[in-house]
Amino acid sequence: MCDIDEGAEKKLAEDTGADFFTTDIDELLDRSEVNAAIIATDASTHVAPVRAAAERGLPMLVEKPLATGARESAELLSLIERNGSDTVIGYTQRFRRRFLVAKEKVGAGELGDVTTVVSLAFLNSLTPIGVFQAAEDPRQMTPMVISGTHTLDICMWLLAGKKPAEVYARSVAKAFVPYGTKDATMGVFTFEDGTIWNMCINWALPSLWPPTVYSLEIGIVGTDGVLTIDDTQRDLVLASDTPHTTQRPTERKSVSFLTSYPPGDIALGQLWGPMREETNSWLARIYMGIDTPHTTAAEGHENLLLTMAMDLSAANGDVVKLPITAEEIEGRG
Ligand SMILES: NC(=O)c1ccc[n+]([C@@H]2O[C@H](COP(=O)([O-])OP(=O)(O)OC[C@H]3O[C@@H](n4cnc5c(N)ncnc54)[C@H](O)[C@@H]3O)[C@@H](O)[C@H]2O)c1
Repeated sequence: MCDIDEGAEKKLAEDTGADFFTTDIDELLDRSEVNAAIIATDASTHVAPVRAAAERGLPMLVEKPLATGARESAELLSLIERNGSDTVIGYTQRFRRRFLVAKEKVGAGELGDVTTVVSLAFLNSLTPIGVFQAAEDPRQMTPMVISGTHTLDICMWLLAGKKPAEVYARSVAKAFVPYGTKDATMGVFTFEDGTIWNMCINWALPSLWPPTVYSLEIGIVGTDGVLTIDDTQRDLVLASDTPHTTQRPTERKSVSFLTSYPPGDIALGQLWGPMREETNSWLARIYMGIDTPHTTAAEGHENLLLTMAMDLSAANGDVVKLPITAEEIEGRG
């Protein structure tokens, strides 16, 4: 176990019963027993540890996004591929039964040929505010790059095989102006076969809004059928006269939608939910060599470029033609 913050590292090491802990990633990765790595540093600090593990060719589970800069993400992807490091990205929502079943049904052609997708993501502002406070450059922390990427990953996964041809987007910045970023982005993707996808994310909802983080609705229409996914998390409601604690010890609420914290919930001293499934599945991938639903590093990189293409379109007011490279994104941003 490694954390550059000695206090955090000691606590993590104690919590997990780590055999070894250090504040120096090279010291950790150079140990002979290390044969895989989880990189779960905060979103803007993935690059150095991912590079260190990729240089050693280690299999990795990297929290999303691979990097917050397009060029850095492209460089990491090429290092990962050159060194044959089996790297997957932490798009935890793929491990939820509802999205796995949706994937199975859409993939089996139950809807016919998909023509139209709509997605609406609303986020409690508390999580993004925490991300901005930890970030070196909050301007890179846009709603699409940090949070919309989960919806984008799920929708692109459901639409596997379809290639986006262009995107047009608009953003608004009001509530989050003090944090140096924007509130919401809406965009329309058009695919090479004519499929259209309208996506909206707003991550500036009031802190008292009941979901802990994400609330999502998706509608997918095909030539033979329709699939709707209500992931607004209203099925377990806790209301109390004395405000109760939530996932964050400093936060109290009177009304909460339980089980709405994306990684999962602590019960009986353990984490239950998508991140547990994701991690156990990743361990099985390593020790049994089985295929798993994880997002690959190449898909993670493409997700980053698509989220950035939306930000670019919103900034410049243009339609952005796809695919787009990291150099084009940085050159035009
Ligand atoms: N998939 C999900 O549902 C989900 C949910 C929450 C967070 N995340 C992701 O998990 C990651 C971590 O989020 P968090 O909220 O736990 O962050 P955090 O800020 O609470 O913890 C990150 C830790 O990384 C340490 N760190 C930073 N740079 C380091 C380095 N170079 N080497 C070693 N340690 C370093 C920090 O000291 C800190 O203790 C982020 O990428 C975030 O996007 C994913």
